[in-house]
Amino acid sequence: MSENEKIVEKPGNILVVDDTPANLRLLTKLLSDNGYEVRPAPNGTLALKSVALILPDLILLDIMMPDLDGYEVCRRLKASEHSRDIPIIFISAINETMDKVKAFNIGGIDYITKPFEADEVLARVKTHLTVRLMQKKVAEKTDQLHAKVEELIQTRQELVQSEKMASLGRLVAGFAHELNTPIGVAVGAASSLHGNTKAINKLLEQEEVDEDELVETLETINEAADLTLSNLKRAANLVSSFKRTAIDQTSEEMRHFQVKTTLDDVINTLHNQFKQTAIEIQVDCPNDLAVYSLPGALEQILTNLMMNSLIHGFSEGKEAGHITIAVTLLGKHLHLAYSDTGKGIESDTVEKIFEPFFTTHRAHGGSGLGLYICYNLVKTQLRGTITCESSPGKGVLFKMNYPISMELYQ
Ligand SMILES: Nc1ncnc2c1ncn2[C@@H]1O[C@H](COP(=O)(O)OP(=O)(O)OP(=O)(O)O)[C@@H](O)[C@H]1O
Ligand SMILES: [Mg+2]
Repeated sequence: MSENEKIVEKPGNILVVDDTPANLRLLTKLLSDNGYEVRPAPNGTLALKSVALILPDLILLDIMMPDLDGYEVCRRLKASEHSRDIPIIFISAINETMDKVKAFNIGGIDYITKPFEADEVLARVKTHLTVRLMQKKVAEKTDQLHAKVEELIQTRQELVQSEKMASLGRLVAGFAHELNTPIGVAVGAASSLHGNTKAINKLLEQEEVDEDELVETLETINEAADLTLSNLKRAANLVSSFKRTAIDQTSEEMRHFQVKTTLDDVINTLHNQFKQTAIEIQVDCPNDLAVYSLPGALEQILTNLMMNSLIHGFSEGKEAGHITIAVTLLGKHLHLAYSDTGKGIESDTVEKIFEPFFTTHRAHGGSGLGLYICYNLVKTQLRGTITCESSPGKGVLFKMNYPISMELYQ
């Protein structure tokens, strides 16, 4: 079996258009005898109607016909989206002057001259049907591929979204944990205040008040009140810093903000993860630097970079080192250099770290989306650039650069 025979699984549906009844009969019989489904049409108008009803796989089209000639029928079929892809083979008598260039220009795929050789007609028909079938298959496959690409884009967006939600979840859990300590201390101190007040009442009920004891109890009350106050203040600070961070991470509004405060907020948020480690964090940023940009994006990027330093650079915080965040302004661009002194990255790995799902930490739950999200945030939201330089044993250096509107508060 030849390649062509394999591809044409079922014989095609062919429309034959010719105004000469003898020709029409001859072609119809030839093709039907060879297993094709044939629809004859004696003129151009009926041919167009027939195509509108059922699309043929191929058309054999006579040129010289009264009313609508073959060229015009072809032009109309090619002008319609519905029928433009049907291959058209022109037929013309040898004594007719056939304009071959015109035939190809208006969309004909081939031509046959009358009187025709049966074998030649069959060979040409088969070839063009095969090509048509292959085109259809390619189009089908292309559609399927498009659908798959769409599906992949959708899945990727969903994953990025769920990673964002997961990072917000981690943030909430971290804050809840952070809040526990100051609130616990404040509750303890407040309940000791209660006991002290009772003691004072008892002292005052006595006929002779022991002044020393009274002063001592009042001092204890003072200390407890101070402790309650300072811890409640810390809790309040945490809550407002949390509010800023959470709002910035969920809304993507541009707003004015102080860069240093935002960096400190992130470091505060991650305090719990870093407090048991020997990692020193240094921020070099002017206190009064205020910009108009997206604080949420900056927070998310910094959170990812810091968590990466902790997990990858310093082996989950088991090793000591430094993290330095240096912010400078160059014209209307914010430059942020983030570096750690951790274990660094192999040179062939550095190229891949911004790719989605690239992680060296899959076994420990890394999804490989952290830096991909950072890259996207810098590219699409901040409209800037981010690069990474690193070598084993030398830590990492991430350089970010993005445009901002700036105001320097005095
Ligand atoms: N500071 C760093 N020091 C050493 N290696 C790093 C550092 N930051 C990133 N890497 C490397 O880059 C890879 C990709 O980081 P990325 O943040 O995209 O994913 P992940 O941290 O593995 O997983 P996820 O962030 O999704 O939980 C990491 O697996 C790690 O190999
Ligand atoms: Mg990460």
